[in-house]
Amino acid sequence: MERNLEGKTCIVTGAARGIGKALAIKYAEKGANIILIDINKENVEATAREIEEGLGVRVLPLVVDVTSSQEISSALEEIEAQFTKIDVLANCAGISTSKLLIDLEEEDWDRVFNVNLKAIYLLSKGVAKNMIKNEVKDGKIVSISSQASKIGELGNGPYCASKAGVNSLTQVLALELAQYGIAVNAVCPGFVDTEMLQDVFLKRSVIEGKAPEEYEMMLTSQVPLGKLAKPEEIAEFMLFLSSEKANYITGTSMTIAGGKTLI
Ligand SMILES: NC(=O)c1ccc[n+]([C@@H]2O[C@H](COP(=O)([O-])OP(=O)(O)OC[C@H]3O[C@@H](n4cnc5c(N)ncnc54)[C@H](O)[C@@H]3O)[C@@H](O)[C@H]2O)c1
Repeated sequence: MERNLEGKTCIVTGAARGIGKALAIKYAEKGANIILIDINKENVEATAREIEEGLGVRVLPLVVDVTSSQEISSALEEIEAQFTKIDVLANCAGISTSKLLIDLEEEDWDRVFNVNLKAIYLLSKGVAKNMIKNEVKDGKIVSISSQASKIGELGNGPYCASKAGVNSLTQVLALELAQYGIAVNAVCPGFVDTEMLQDVFLKRSVIEGKAPEEYEMMLTSQVPLGKLAKPEEIAEFMLFLSSEKANYITGTSMTIAGGKTLI
């Protein structure tokens, strides 16, 4: 297997499970040292052990709430102390709510925006400073947005709006960091088979007055390719965007949704 990330240091947030975990495994398979960031201590440490044993790269799990600028600063200090430079930041942490806007509390709105959008600003700022200071060649920032950034989804208001913000933030970061050779992109997945989606089936089905299985079938039938994505299918494209193969791509937010947003 081509180890084209050998010697690179990659940070993955939301790395304890789902798409973040799938991406961390792919980075490690390509030879990168990885920092796994997540709020879930038990899962992030288990994921780190799994990757370290199987792939023989340096893995540092860090328990961080990505909405806290203080926790991010401490984490970046520790990462710099251990690895000096950072080559790739992958923003995968994200949350959703399943409530109609008229029923939503202000705290729900703030929490979703803080995890999905503010955290990407805070982390990108800190990591970009590290890249600039260390004159990192071809640094990469890749964030997970969503198809929900491009189409409204009933019962998913702050998620849709925060993910639209991710696309915009990606464009501005791309413009401002281009002079340092740092490329910034987002991916907009459709329905990906993870625990987050299972939770959506369970909770948002109630708003639509459907059983979870019936709701899952309804959503899946709205995908032209007729199936859910696997986390690895999203991670594969993020891996490409994180590599030197994507050096000329910046400011994009590519939809990977089996055609869902076309109909
Ligand atoms: N699953 C889907 O259908 C889908 C579709 C489009 C976009 N996405 C996006 O992909 C990303 C990953 O989603 P997933 O399906 O793998 O979800 P997931 O719930 O399986 O994983 C998300 C991870 O983020 C972590 N996290 C949550 N809040 C955090 C915080 N404050 N600080 C640090 N870590 C935190 C969680 O502990 C969890 O490990 C998210 O940004 C999500 O919005 C998912």
